[in-house]
This record gives sequence, C-alpha cells and structure tokens, in this order.
Amino acid sequence: MTLPTTSDRSGVAALLPAMQAPSPTLLALDSFSVVFPGANGPVPVVRGIDLSLAPGEALGIVGESGCGKSVTWLAALRLLGRGVVTSGEVRLAGEDITRLPERALSRIRGGRIGLIFQDPTSSLNPVQRIGTQLMEVLRLHRGLRGDAAQREALRLLDRVGIADAPRRLRQYPHEFSGGMNQRVMIALALAGEPELLIADEPTTALDATIQAQILDLIRDIRRESGMGLVLISHDIGVVADLCDRVAVMYAGRIVETAATQDLLGRPRHPYTRGLLAALPTLDGPRRRLTPIAGTVPAPDRMPPGCAFAPRCSLAIDECRGETPPLLLAAQDQRAACLRLAETAAAPAAQAPASLGAFA
Ligand SMILES: Nc1ncnc2c1ncn2[C@@H]1O[C@H](COP(=O)(O)OP(=O)(O)OP(=O)(O)O)[C@@H](O)[C@H]1O
Ligand code: SF4
Ligand SMILES: [Mg+2]
Repeated sequence: MTLPTTSDRSGVAALLPAMQAPSPTLLALDSFSVVFPGANGPVPVVRGIDLSLAPGEALGIVGESGCGKSVTWLAALRLLGRGVVTSGEVRLAGEDITRLPERALSRIRGGRIGLIFQDPTSSLNPVQRIGTQLMEVLRLHRGLRGDAAQREALRLLDRVGIADAPRRLRQYPHEFSGGMNQRVMIALALAGEPELLIADEPTTALDATIQAQILDLIRDIRRESGMGLVLISHDIGVVADLCDRVAVMYAGRIVETAATQDLLGRPRHPYTRGLLAALPTLDGPRRRLTPIAGTVPAPDRMPPGCAFAPRCSLAIDECRGETPPLLLAAQDQRAACLRLAETAAAPAAQAPASLGAFA
C-alpha cells in the first residue's frame, strides 16, 4: 500500500480515523490575540496563541514578567475592561465562548471554569461574609439554596482545610490571613464544580509552608474530581510539580510547548534554555548562574521578526526578518525558533535537580 504524502490531504484525512482517534479537547485557544488601546495607536499584547487542553489535563504557563500570561486568560474570559480587542477563538468543549453574550459567559466563569488569582482581595468582596459569597456562587451555578447551600458551603470550607467552618462562614475576608483567604478563593472556585480551574500565580504571595499546603490541596482536588488545570506561574518548580505539559510564553506568544519532563530534560527554544539555566540549584555541583541578559520587550516596542532575537546568542540575520512559527521539534514538542537543528545538536544546560522561580 502506498501511503499518501503530506500534500495529499484528503488521503491523510481518510487514514487518520483508523490510525488514531483524535483526543477530546476541553479548551482550545486558536490564533487568540489581544490588543490594548495605546497613546499612539493599538498595541498588540498577545499575538496569536494556539493552545489546547484535554479534559483533566494540567497545563503550566511560564515566562518572565510581562510576557502576557495573565492577559491571555483574563482576555479569553472577557475579564479585561472596555477598549481591549480580542480576535481568534476560545473554544470550550467545541463552543467558541468569545461570541457568547455576557450573561452566558458569566455562567461559565465560576461554573464550568473556576478562577483563582494571585491576590484574593481582587476576588473576595470585603463587605460580605464568606458564607454569603460562597452561597451566592452555589445558588448561581448549582441552584442550591437554604440548608442545602449552607451544608455545601460548610463542606467546601472543610475541604479546603478551614477549621471551625460554621463560625468562619459568618466572618469577613479581613478576619482571615492571606493563606486562609487563598483557601476561601479555592473554595469559591470549586463551588461551581468546574471542569477547568485557571489558577494565576495562586501561591506567589504566600510563605513557603502555606504555598506547599495550597499546592497539595490543588493536587488532591484534581485527583478527586478529574478537573483540568491551567497553572500560570513564573515558578517553574511549581509547574513541574503539578503539570503534565508546559507552554513557555515570551512577548505575547507561545515559544515552546512540550510534556513537562521533555521540556525540562531537552528544552529546544533558546528562551526556555535560558530560563532553565537561570535557575539556582540547591544540590548538585556549584555553577555560575547565567541569567538571560536583557529584558522582555514592551508590547509597543516589539522588535521585528523573532522577539527574542535581541537576547539570543544564536540569533542570525534571518531571525530579525520573520516571526518563527511553532514547529515540530520532537514528538509532542513544538518550538518557535528558526534554528531548531542547531538547538538539537547543542546540549542544553541540565535542568536543575531542584527547580525554582525566575524573575
Ligand atoms: N490594562 C492594560 N493596559 C495596557 N497594557 C497592559 C494592561 N495590562 C497588562 N498590560 C501589559 O501587557 C503585558 C502583559 O502583561 P501580563 O500581566 O499578562 O504579564 P504576565 O506575564 O502575567 O506578567 P507577571 O509574571 O508579572 O504577572 C505587559 O507588558 C503589561 O504591561
Ligand atoms: S529564531 Fe533566532 S533569535 Fe529567535 S530564538 Fe531562534 S535562534 Fe534565537
Ligand atoms: Mg501575571
């Protein structure tokens, strides 16, 4: 039998169902872009993101500060103010949610998609009791009222490790510590029994012990419920611990994506390599830290071609001419670099045994 070439698309399509069943997709971003208004005209901040997440999968999003990690997900759920223009699609179980009316989208936020942000004060209402806030979510998203809502609110507080739940339900956010408020936010995010939890730096503001407890809690809940997770972090250690797959963002684009172990073991994009090389090791031989020289370009001063070129030791003239697309670098690994042949040949700095955060 003669196999069709890749140019014989109809033949390939006919073969695909027999060779591999397409895996179901929970959430997909397709050519998703975000443009902010600027003093001198529109400023593209997120520049054509393609990502997908299978049901129950945990995807980590990493990158230095200002790469567009938060804006991508806030814009995908239409949580940014007026004047922000998005394009492309955000499909939840196949349905493009960017086209939904606000009322329908607000049922998805806090319902099928739970959200946790770094700063609990941005999500908790300071003048409402914790119990009132929890029961409001239970009423909106699960139709629970009265005793049933009260029982479920108590169960949720208990589930996130808040002792003395009946008393706590009557308290206000200012009566809780930072770590406790973070637990309340998780309880609120879980109240709608989401299929997907989007957690943006959920532990950055917390001390190390509380951080470990919150991460254990998220891991346990995922195990129990099979909920998908998008974990946004500048701490690659946290992501490595919790996520099946990682997407690396730079200057509003995904520059590399792979299974976590592959990304740590054989990073192919020079930016990913730079991030990993910049991490300190606690054990293993001492070596000089090599932070990536330079900074992430501001969205209104994006260099032409590959945005990483001004910081990249492998840059050549062509890199400044065209924006590299995400190319297949290895099985299930894609990287947006014109010099993948060279990065395949050159050994990367070993991923540190103990991973941490980069700036
Ligand atoms: N409301 C806004 N108007 C204009 N520009 C914005 C706005 N919000 C964010 N930006 C810009 O968009 C870019 C991406 O910001 P974003 O908050 O997504 O970064 P991030 O990767 O989440 O960084 P961090 O790790 O610091 O949270 C930054 O250059 C930021 O200055
Ligand atoms: S495309 Fe060029 S500048 Fe960009 S990461 Fe690859 S080698 Fe470096
Ligand atoms: Mg952010």
